[in-house]
Amino acid sequence: MSDQIPDRNDALELLKKYNKKEGLIRHALAVESVMGHFARKFGEDEEKWRVIGLVHDLDYEMYPEEHCKKCVELFEEHHWPEEYIRAVVSHGWEICSDVKPESLLEKTLYAIDELTGLVASSALMRPSKSILDIKAKSVKKKFKTKSFAAGVDREVILKGAGFLDMELSDLITEVIAGMRPVAEEIGLKGNL
Ligand SMILES: [Fe+2]
Ligand SMILES: [Fe+2]
Repeated sequence: MSDQIPDRNDALELLKKYNKKEGLIRHALAVESVMGHFARKFGEDEEKWRVIGLVHDLDYEMYPEEHCKKCVELFEEHHWPEEYIRAVVSHGWEICSDVKPESLLEKTLYAIDELTGLVASSALMRPSKSILDIKAKSVKKKFKTKSFAAGVDREVILKGAGFLDMELSDLITEVIAGMRPVAEEIGLKGNL
């Protein structure tokens, strides 16, 4: 790694070292793309935001019981900077970590992680099976249907929207826009 700042190649290499399941790789790519979208929107460091999005669930496949804990060890072994590690750990605030999201990057990651899952599940329900023609309104309807994608924690999403001082509908709109550039890679191009 050049001067200890991980770039996208470092992140992808590390991700693929510990993650083999297609679903998890797709989730990582979706979160990466949305983080890049928000970094541009907020005028922040796009590569840093992307890199952290890409590796945020690094330990989940191999160490699900130690999610947000084991990764600290893995990142340290690979000499990742403290700022990056803290950001990753904070996405599991109150679930698997007690590190509260503080920076704009951390708040954004926290707000969009679960929501990418809800958007993906909602897109797959469409006749097109595509994220390219989905509207925020239909995701919001699914949000309110608690039995739909029940594993998606609505409370986390609402807290995240609060952190960003954004309306839920606006957050959904931005997440959809952030996922579209990788529609194909994340299996959500559908038949469009
Ligand atoms: Fe996670
Ligand atoms: Fe995640």
